[in-house]
Amino acid sequence: MMTDTVTHQASAASLSEATQARFAREVAKYPKEQAQSAVMACLSIVQQEQGWVSTEAEAAIAVYLGMPAMAVHEVTTFYNMYNQQPVGKFKLNVCTNLPCQLRNGQGALEHLCKSLNVEDGGTTADGLFTVAKCECLGACADAPVMLVNDRQMLSYMSNDKLDEMVAMMRTEAGKAA
Ligand code: FES
Repeated sequence: MMTDTVTHQASAASLSEATQARFAREVAKYPKEQAQSAVMACLSIVQQEQGWVSTEAEAAIAVYLGMPAMAVHEVTTFYNMYNQQPVGKFKLNVCTNLPCQLRNGQGALEHLCKSLNVEDGGTTADGLFTVAKCECLGACADAPVMLVNDRQMLSYMSNDKLDEMVAMMRTEAGKAA
């Protein structure tokens, strides 16, 4: 128990002042005794800053919000948008739930994996792309449907459109480099 306390104190200290200030703004939106309600916002902040949510970050959030680290981890693992490991510059999630399956959702995922030479859930060697299946995105009539970097939804993604998208992303990454 003592060791846990020490570890957690160290974890909390690992949050920068700027990060803690952002956390504080989120916590302030809730009644004092309900700081834990800010857990999703805090996870999002960490992911924005670090690109993913590490076990250490979960522990730091847990200390900050006064909740068990496991409860934070349960939130991280429940939602698709939280990255549990580093991801590529472009995170590509393809819906493979049943309605999309009936309209080539699985085929779109396999096409992306094959053309980028990655397994489902994998990241390309150059760190540009992470490809993974996901649950329903709420646009089943537009299948195949995908989500880019947890924010941009793309519909009717035929293999040709997927190839065009990947080419555009490579160009964009090249310009940024
Ligand atoms: S099943 Fe794919 S968006 Fe709903």
